[in-house]
Amino acid sequence: MTKRVAFIAGNWKMNLDHQQGIALVQKLAWTLKDAAHDYSSAEVVVFPGFTSIRSIQTLIDADKLEVRLGAQDISAQDSGAFTGEVSGVALKKLDVEYVLIGHSERRQYHNEDDAVVQAKTAAAFRHGIVPVICVGETAEELETEGSAAVPVRQALAALKNHETLGDFVVAYEPVWAIGTGQVATPEVAASVCSKIRVAIAEEHGAEIADRTRILYGGSVKAANVAGFLKSVDVDGVLVGGASLDAEEFSGIARFQKHLAL
Ligand code: PGA
Repeated sequence: MTKRVAFIAGNWKMNLDHQQGIALVQKLAWTLKDAAHDYSSAEVVVFPGFTSIRSIQTLIDADKLEVRLGAQDISAQDSGAFTGEVSGVALKKLDVEYVLIGHSERRQYHNEDDAVVQAKTAAAFRHGIVPVICVGETAEELETEGSAAVPVRQALAALKNHETLGDFVVAYEPVWAIGTGQVATPEVAASVCSKIRVAIAEEHGAEIADRTRILYGGSVKAANVAGFLKSVDVDGVLVGGASLDAEEFSGIARFQKHLAL
């Protein structure tokens, strides 16, 4: 089995201006440095809003930080008359390595359906940016379909009809667990992540499934992260609220400390 490097992602959502973003990344990098964090065993990626990306890129570059940079969205188009959109061309130019696609807040408030998510995934592949494809069931879907059906279906839909699949990450985030303080149990998270991996293997082959990182997200904190990451099926976490606090987020990045206890 391929060794998958843990992926610790901080989705800032619509929080922090660029100065606050710089301060947060500086504090995060210092805290992780003090703790001798091993980035080769747990990658740390921040996903600021668009207006902060250039500032954070400059900081990472100037201070040679090992924190990586992601964006929260990407246009399905590459350029042209698409007011308000941000293209993969522009993101790539700012050294953006990852992009969130299909976050439940985009699906819910911006009507992004599976076709939009697929098109944005294609845009990310075109520009050599790794899509972090977000999937998850609502509370109602949990009632009617259980926990795995919707995330599996959404993941397969995002991965359909690409000439070649680039590297991608999948984040399983039950909608009812996002920002609510309610978490899936580690067992349910592991079981859904494992079912997503099996479905990817069936559709795209064992080799791709084996190297793909599958994350859990939804009310993850330093105090509960180890429970999720002790499973071999969960390769990292996508963190919202708790990523806005450098101490808390670095505690999450250093989950291995808890595992060793
Ligand atoms: P949360 O958000 O950690 O605040 O629940 C997770 C996410 O939406 O990615």
